[in-house]
Amino acid sequence: MRVLFAASEAAPLIKTGGLADVSGALPAALHRMGVDVRVLLPGYPQVLKALSSLQQIARFTGLPGYPDANLLRGAFPNGVPVLLVECPELYQRGGGIYQDEHGVDWTDNAQRFGLLSKIAAVLGSADSPLEWKPDVVHCNDWQTGLAPAYLHFANDAAPCVMTVHNLAFQGIFPPQTTVELGLPAQCFQMEGVEFYGSLSFLKAGLYYANHITTVSPSYAKEIQMDALGSGLQGLLASRRGILTGILNGIDTDEWNPAADPHLAYSYNAADLRGKSPNKRELQRRMGLHIDPEVPLIGLVCRFTHQKGMDVVLEAVPQLLALPAQMALLGSGDATMQRAVLELSHHYSGRMGAFVGFDEALSHLIEAGADMFLMPSRFEPCGLNQMYSQRYGTPPIVHATGGLIDTVMDCNDASLACGDACGFVFDRMDATGLLDAARRAVATYHDKKTWRQVQLNGMAKDFGWSQSAAAYHRIYSSLLRR
Ligand code: ADP
Ligand code: GLC
Repeated sequence: MRVLFAASEAAPLIKTGGLADVSGALPAALHRMGVDVRVLLPGYPQVLKALSSLQQIARFTGLPGYPDANLLRGAFPNGVPVLLVECPELYQRGGGIYQDEHGVDWTDNAQRFGLLSKIAAVLGSADSPLEWKPDVVHCNDWQTGLAPAYLHFANDAAPCVMTVHNLAFQGIFPPQTTVELGLPAQCFQMEGVEFYGSLSFLKAGLYYANHITTVSPSYAKEIQMDALGSGLQGLLASRRGILTGILNGIDTDEWNPAADPHLAYSYNAADLRGKSPNKRELQRRMGLHIDPEVPLIGLVCRFTHQKGMDVVLEAVPQLLALPAQMALLGSGDATMQRAVLELSHHYSGRMGAFVGFDEALSHLIEAGADMFLMPSRFEPCGLNQMYSQRYGTPPIVHATGGLIDTVMDCNDASLACGDACGFVFDRMDATGLLDAARRAVATYHDKKTWRQVQLNGMAKDFGWSQSAAAYHRIYSSLLRR
């Protein structure tokens, strides 16, 4: 089985969020199962720099709407082959991978990710310059959404899977982009790539894919309904026969408290004593009062409305009054960033914050915090709530999407059957959040019960094997067709 896995980011080469974690770990899990998988990524400067011994294996010229590009071959540190689209005109620049240094979307994003999609489709069709032909093309999020459309109009095309990691990001561009990027004019219609008068990369992917997946069973249901369907609920409901929710796994090597180079001390479920030195180190790093007893609430996320950061900001004074400390890491919305920093100055010693992206600190927060806060308004899957359970740091989460599927609320019944592993709230506001946090803090002070909740989470299998097998079954079903 040969699979081309196309994505706009993949850990450890380039990461802005969970898509990168998945695009690093799922191909690795497939590779371990014997699948001949290759990951296709844009040749961003960071990626070109991180990979040595790259070899050019093809050149693309005259693709309608696109500058010339090279295809380079290399490998992830774990050996999984990677193919890079090298096109300096589109990818060689400073700033972020989606936005410039001021947080404004690159104006040529349609071309930048259209090219990624186009090359995925060429490689999956009879026009491929490579001898290696994928049996399936696996696309991820809007940045690769045009690939299924290109494949639909290509010769002898491989079937394709479209995975939705977040329906809220759709890749919307002016209507004329459709033809400019070499798609036939007739596909710009409701039965095609058109979405409220614009071109939608994501809708293109959802409309033309042979199978659609998303990253948790609950989110697969939610996106067929008005509240979280982002306008695509009708299309998704009509395609529900080929829509599957597959829960993400986590990279259990990368996220392992027993062998994590970012921690002050390692620990495991059999011996949790190493957790408190990590708490001390986190308190030191974040400028918090060193206090082993006070519950420390961690948070790592994009500072956005999706992640419920507005609600967190509102609840800070009452959370600290529980009493508790807070350690926050993230970046995103400029107003939220400012508010976080202001609060951390105001409550210095009790609330610590770091604005920016810091992989090492994110690991230390998972280990050093006592509980992890994740009040997302919606969450397709979410990874941190799984990392935190593995680190013995029970999560406090809003009941939505993948958070429902991975966190069992702590109550008498779930404690009795050994499932309790976090604190879940339904009401998405400061009152709901505080109510769950209060329950978490009360449980924290009941040492025996708290230890049980920690161990229940640490015992769970969050590895990729089952989910990779589920993707494999979908690939196989497409080949049989
Ligand atoms: P999303 O992809 O919606 O942002 P996920 O929970 O799936 O949410 O994944 C987020 C990933 O990005 C996690 O690995 C998390 O630790 C990481 N992350 C988010 N913000 C930061 C940050 N500021 N510094 C380091 N890692 C971060
Ligand atoms: C998205 C979602 C997140 C998910 C991640 C990986 O960024 O917001 O919930 O875990 O993709 O699938």
